[in-house]
Amino acid sequence: MSKVLGMEGKLALVTGGTRGIGRGITEALLAAGMRVAVVGTDSERSVKVAAELGPVEQVRGYGCDVSDTEAVTSLVALVGEDLGDIDCLVNNAGITRDGIYIRLKSEDWDRVMAVNLTGTHNFCKAVTRGMMKRRAGRIVNITSVVGQTGNAGQVNYAASKAGQIGLTKSLARELGARNVTVNAVAPGFIQTDMTADLPEDVRSAMLEGIPLGRLGDPADVAAVVLFLLSDASAYVTGQVIGVNGGMAMIG
Ligand code: NAI
Repeated sequence: MSKVLGMEGKLALVTGGTRGIGRGITEALLAAGMRVAVVGTDSERSVKVAAELGPVEQVRGYGCDVSDTEAVTSLVALVGEDLGDIDCLVNNAGITRDGIYIRLKSEDWDRVMAVNLTGTHNFCKAVTRGMMKRRAGRIVNITSVVGQTGNAGQVNYAASKAGQIGLTKSLARELGARNVTVNAVAPGFIQTDMTADLPEDVRSAMLEGIPLGRLGDPADVAAVVLFLLSDASAYVTGQVIGVNGGMAMIG
């Protein structure tokens, strides 16, 4: 299967790969025969998670705050020294700091934009030159359905996720001629730590709006990321693919 998809031995860097959707993505890429650099906030934890997921030749953990531009540049250089060229980048790290707009603190605006949007930009910037030179590369940004539809109580988060979509489309236009594709995946309501704390009434109201009648699983998102990193999606760029059980139907 991985040979058919052209993924065997290729190197992917996955941000926020230590848990939730990012961990699901990492597991799927490893199962497809790829090598993965897993980036989390805490290097010790990333190394530990990587060791749980596979041998060090196949998966290695790194620590870095994605919002720190210099740290990201150094990290990408280090991954290059350790493991070689980064063929695929998955910008998955993300946070929420929800609350109604009237009470939104500017530090909560700043932090969400810094991690979700600037973090995505930092990694794109750090890998783009190499991908352009090699005339090959895949970038997938994990946005959110709320970046497409908006959501009360998530002005900062939705703005950062919509920002990722603008970044994705613009970069896809710039890099297409160099055979680098840039796409976004927009999950709906996926069961992870990020959604674990939602009150039961909110959870059941959301379920009612999902035609497939269930919450998503990290593996549901990972399957689409896998497709976008594989040879099977060679002619797909600048797209936003929803993985939301039908809760929003866009386009
Ligand atoms: P999570 O909270 O379970 O995991 C987030 C990951 O990002 C963790 O590994 C964490 O260490 C990492 N991270 C957070 N801040 C970081 C920083 N400054 N530097 C480096 N790493 C950092 O979240 P989940 O649910 O797995 O979400 C992953 C992505 O999917 C996020 O971008 C989120 O916005 C998006 N998403 C999630 C949905 C859901 O229902 N869970 C729905 C739509 C989008």
